[in-house]
Amino acid sequence: MIIAIDGPAASGKGTLAKLIARHWGLPCLDTGLLYRAVARDVHARGFRLPDTWSAVALARSLDPSSLDDPGLRSPGTGEWASIVASISEVRAALLDYQRAFAAQPGGAVLDGRDIGTVVCPAADVKIFVTASPEVRARRRFLERQAQSEAVTYERGLADIQRRDARDAVRESAPMRSAADATLLDTSDLDIEAAFDAAVGLIKRKIGQ
Ligand code: CDP
Repeated sequence: MIIAIDGPAASGKGTLAKLIARHWGLPCLDTGLLYRAVARDVHARGFRLPDTWSAVALARSLDPSSLDDPGLRSPGTGEWASIVASISEVRAALLDYQRAFAAQPGGAVLDGRDIGTVVCPAADVKIFVTASPEVRARRRFLERQAQSEAVTYERGLADIQRRDARDAVRESAPMRSAADATLLDTSDLDIEAAFDAAVGLIKRKIGQ
């Protein structure tokens, strides 16, 4: 069973994907980490974004074993990730890895922006997770504050809105819900309630 979970930043899609994967005993891939890792590698080599040529070369040589780097989660890396993610050759270079991950025996859960539309258009279940920008900014603010980072809610909201806009308008694989995805709005749901809702809709979809 392949489960595709897409949605904007801080919608809860990453946490939901991990919980769903654990519930059904499936491997899980946070595809945002691939774009974050390319952005990290571009930056580490002192290139300036957008440097299409080096971003594409680094995407082609990306070592997926370097994805559990805690630095990938920093806000700056998220911003650069959305810039490298708008380069169609970077997206193309990362496609085979994502599709091979999804094709594992038994299936997989993948979360990102274009899983239901481009990476796994034939996924068994597609969920588009969303929440209002204000709710998402508040979540990110509380997460970052708990990690003692110097952040403000207003700056976080502006970052989220800028990234949403860039992800939604890019020409290559823009962020959008697949026509056959189910929308899950988590604005008024905590993670347990969102998980229960997701499990319910997956069970209905697969006829359990
Ligand atoms: O965790 P958060 O939602 O903040 O970000 P992420 O999922 O790690 O994604 C970082 C950036 O990578 C996004 O803003 C997108 O531009 C890009 N991305 C993408 O284009 N396609 C994906 N399948 C996953 C991420």
